[in-house]
Amino acid sequence: MLIYLTRRKILKKITNYLMAFLLMPFFSIKKAMARNGDGTNGRMERQMNLPKPRFKGEVSVEHAIKHRRTIRSYLSKPLTLEQLSQIFWAAQGITEDRGYKRSAPSGGALYPMDIYSVVGDDGVKGLKAGIYHYDSQKHSALLITEGDFREDVARTALSQMWMARAPLNLVITAEYSRITSKYGSRGERYAMIEAGHVGQNIFLQVEALGLRAGIVGSFHDSDVARIMKISKSHEPLLILPVGYAE
Ligand SMILES: Cc1cc2nc3c(=O)[nH]c(=O)nc-3n(C[C@H](O)[C@H](O)[C@H](O)COP(=O)(O)O)c2cc1C
Repeated sequence: MLIYLTRRKILKKITNYLMAFLLMPFFSIKKAMARNGDGTNGRMERQMNLPKPRFKGEVSVEHAIKHRRTIRSYLSKPLTLEQLSQIFWAAQGITEDRGYKRSAPSGGALYPMDIYSVVGDDGVKGLKAGIYHYDSQKHSALLITEGDFREDVARTALSQMWMARAPLNLVITAEYSRITSKYGSRGERYAMIEAGHVGQNIFLQVEALGLRAGIVGSFHDSDVARIMKISKSHEPLLILPVGYAE
């Protein structure tokens, strides 16, 4: 009897160790409920550090302004993680050593914008298709929903299906409460103006990377938010498909 019990204990221990070993990778995945500002509605998240952005390029700002155009047809060639990282940074990256101010101006430095990327299958090398949220402070991306949602997003944009052929679609959202708390209803106007700055930063950065972008304002806001499973407080303002021009 004693031997039987000891054997059972040993077996139980081995099973526990095996289970712990098998489940280890899942524990390294960061699980977090929705926090202030990320608008992710409390689903499981997977956080990934992005490559450091570069502060020097080969294309002049004048050249980028001159050649920027809204592009509506793309190759199926994927982007690299470095390119996505650079684009996120240009859109809303931290640009001062104090770690606060961002790449685009913001009324009262209140930063009501968030950037998401709808990444398609094979849209970015080494990245699974999904909806990613950019964390400016950490320069990281959170995978908030897995899957290729480009066609669903394009359908909500009055079926502008050309958008779904770009490897990824960037979505700029505003959380008005972050700015209306100081400026009242005028804060909404400031947030919309800020979205324009962010959009132009994206346009110029992609141009400097040899990529192109489009810009889309015609879509059903609540459908985009629902498909992307982002918080209702994050209002989609602009969508920018990005990729290599055909
Ligand atoms: C706020 C805004 C919304 C836009 N919405 C759309 C859109 O839904 N679909 C589209 O094909 N282009 C859209 N555009 C792109 C314009 O059609 C484009 O900027 C204009 O034709 C000038 O061309 P360019 O950007 O190539 O210089 C939008 C542009 C802005 C600024």
